[in-house]
Amino acid sequence: MTAEKKAAAAPAKTFTLKDDQSGKEWKLPVVDGTVGPNGIDVRKLLAETGHITFDPSFNSTGACKSKITFIDGDAGKLMHRGYSIEDLTQKSNFIEVMYLLLYGDLPNKPDYEEFKRHITYHTMVHEQVHFFFRGFRRDAHPMAIMCGVVGGLSAFYHDSLDINNPQHREISIHRLIAKIPTLAAMTFKYAIGQPFMYPRNDLSFVENFLYMCFAVPAEPYKINPVVAKALEKIFILHADHEQNASTSTVRLAGSTGANPFACIASGITSLWGPAHGGANQEVLEMLHEIGHKDRIPEFLARAKDKNDPFKLMGFGHRIYKNYDPRAAVLKADCHAVLEELGVKNEPLLDLAMELEKIALSDPYFVERKLFPNVDFYSGIILKAMGFPTSMFTVLFALARTVGWCAQWKEMIEEPDMRIGRPRQLYIGAAGRPYVALDKRK
Ligand code: SDX
Repeated sequence: MTAEKKAAAAPAKTFTLKDDQSGKEWKLPVVDGTVGPNGIDVRKLLAETGHITFDPSFNSTGACKSKITFIDGDAGKLMHRGYSIEDLTQKSNFIEVMYLLLYGDLPNKPDYEEFKRHITYHTMVHEQVHFFFRGFRRDAHPMAIMCGVVGGLSAFYHDSLDINNPQHREISIHRLIAKIPTLAAMTFKYAIGQPFMYPRNDLSFVENFLYMCFAVPAEPYKINPVVAKALEKIFILHADHEQNASTSTVRLAGSTGANPFACIASGITSLWGPAHGGANQEVLEMLHEIGHKDRIPEFLARAKDKNDPFKLMGFGHRIYKNYDPRAAVLKADCHAVLEELGVKNEPLLDLAMELEKIALSDPYFVERKLFPNVDFYSGIILKAMGFPTSMFTVLFALARTVGWCAQWKEMIEEPDMRIGRPRQLYIGAAGRPYVALDKRK
């Protein structure tokens, strides 16, 4: 008997839910994942029991089915479409990983070349976009500009925003993936008062981004292959990460039928938070504030003090209860990249490693399984490449755009996709009569 016939013949898996007051019982179907936790299907819970589930930060709630990314938080493992993040960072490149995330398999040579050509030939932005920037002060945070400009891009493509049209979805995704680096580089140039550099089609995706950031019209620019390779790895490491806050924001926005530019702009706004993608900037600022390893105990004490809002930035994760595999890759790369860049001794790296060593031997962090996450080491490398801390989350958004697009695409292509609409546990006032102003105390 084939596996499918066996599965069909096997008794349906269920969970029994019992109301201890009434003694009534309900059988809830179980939905199986390939790996990781299975799900209890509660879609009929309210209709059948008059109760909702209550899980405010979605700690135990699956919002969708997905084939794109899987995280084993206890083992500290991450894979995209079944390929480990270690394999992808060591053997693949960002264009190929983008194809994998979007279309489900590694491309053959012709498909790879065609996808690369599509992305290359969509990197330029409409010349009118330059005027968006003029409205911002030069000291505007680059993420503030990205929130505005990416959402505004939809104004240029009214002819291809029908999300139910596969061709419109495809070209919108290509435009977003290709133009985000151009816009990110423009936010950097605008902040430092240098002229925008137009994209070059003879360069790779990552080389082109470095060119648009660091070249000037006055002289030729030489790509540093070490920087390009390290940045390629950083982009791969940040590409997608299951249903994190910003991806969930993109999915919820997309479920209303909003156009993909507006949805990705919503992801950028959500990623900006210091508890999320904004942490890479906060880690560098925290390391600068700590300043010397002698002050580490003071900051660890603050991180443990429930009356102090300070958190050890770059530590902890909702899913990883082990070392974030992305942080492990970046930590290993840190030394190599800094050395290749001629940064003999980076005090911030020494401080970060000392902080990690002390924190990982502290019972508070050990008991709570708080390990370094992707943001802990990324900023040190980005700083060595010449990016200001204000650009760190922009680079995270640049890399995550393909993940957001892949998740958005997967959701829109779900046959039974519906608008997302969570319920609530109402704890406010029950009905009460209106009292006229002159009768109130
Ligand atoms: C990203 O979701 C994703 O996948 C996100 C991301 C992605 O790729 O999309 O991985 C990217 O956002 C990485 C996280 C970057 N953020 C930071 O580094 C900011 C610092 N970290 C914390 O804010 C926190 O760890 C979170 C936000 C990441 C997770 O918050 P949770 O889920 O509330 O943490 P938890 O439930 O594991 O906390 C358990 C305990 C709590 O204390 P108790 O109530 O048990 O006493 O650990 C404490 C927390 O207060 N804690 C920390 C801490 N992180 C958790 N205490 C001090 N410093 C910290 N960093």
